[in-house]
Amino acid sequence: MNQVTTPAPQVLLAEVTHRCPLQCPYCSNPTELIKKDVELSTADWARVFEESAELGVLQVSISGGEPAARRDLTELIGAAHEADLYVNLITSGIGITKDRLNDLVGAGCDHIQLSLQDVDPDGAKLISNLNKSLERKLEFAKWVTDISVPLTVNAVMHRLNLDRLPETIKLAQELGARRLEIANVQYHGWAALNKNLLMPTQEQSDRTNQIVKEARESLEGQLLIDYVPVDHYAEYPKPCMNGWGRVALIVAPDGSVLPCHNATTLTHLAFPNVINHSLENVWYESDAFNAYRGDTWMHDICRTCDRKEIDFGGCRCQALSILGDASAADPVCSRAHPHALVIDDDTQVLELVEPDLITYRPNA
Ligand code: FES
Repeated sequence: MNQVTTPAPQVLLAEVTHRCPLQCPYCSNPTELIKKDVELSTADWARVFEESAELGVLQVSISGGEPAARRDLTELIGAAHEADLYVNLITSGIGITKDRLNDLVGAGCDHIQLSLQDVDPDGAKLISNLNKSLERKLEFAKWVTDISVPLTVNAVMHRLNLDRLPETIKLAQELGARRLEIANVQYHGWAALNKNLLMPTQEQSDRTNQIVKEARESLEGQLLIDYVPVDHYAEYPKPCMNGWGRVALIVAPDGSVLPCHNATTLTHLAFPNVINHSLENVWYESDAFNAYRGDTWMHDICRTCDRKEIDFGGCRCQALSILGDASAADPVCSRAHPHALVIDDDTQVLELVEPDLITYRPNA
């Protein structure tokens, strides 16, 4: 695969703000949050949506932070709809009243993904650092299904809530969700700071694999279950972002265009901004997006591997953070590395979790 033919992107993740009323300690936003005063304007986002549709993008996921923290969220959704994109809103539901939800749907919101911290109110409070967050989400989910907007529940799983996975699956059904995303925490950014508290045990991970397998069988045709296993216990790495610059692009609140959530940790790369670059130019021409396409950047062990078209070498950000080399095989890969590289002793033996040990992500 020396000759790289770049396909058009299919998905745009529009991170319209990093502001958020929740403070989840596994937040996928970078640890250096982008401030409100440098967020793109409504008009800038409208241009981003138009350019992405012209580029071939079919779906935009409007996300954050909490996108509802933007007062112009209805206008943003309207602009994405006008650009002929399928509009998916990823939200905590906090800050969206019933009337506002109706406005968002009226403006063109096609689908809603609701994040769920826990089915246990105390567990939800512990992770979100917000009182009554579960109760407010349940009310929001009901409003969504009452107006027949397709709902996906995003359940982020970790050591503190994995034992309640069966109840989580049951709740998604009761809420009328069509899809449930069971996503184990990815240990980058804020989650890396909280790894010793959140990393599941091997036993929890094995049990989860089994529960998901059984639920997929028993709920086939009723609830679609997407599953992101604990990749630190996996034999092979996940195809992070479906490969660098292959399928999706992220536009950060300030207009930086990124191939993945943690790309800014790759400080040897410069990420162009939509303020002074077209998305087409960024996708096809920028050094940052071309850096890890194809296989010429790979070490021999990946370049000669029969899985290189399956996992694309895994996660560049994880390779950099654990091995200090963004071109290395993902440290999770058992063909390339001993597993001790990613599982250290303290994540195996730490049983007691004290809430005051959590490093919360700030609201802004
Ligand atoms: Fe950056 Fe995986 S998070 S490549």
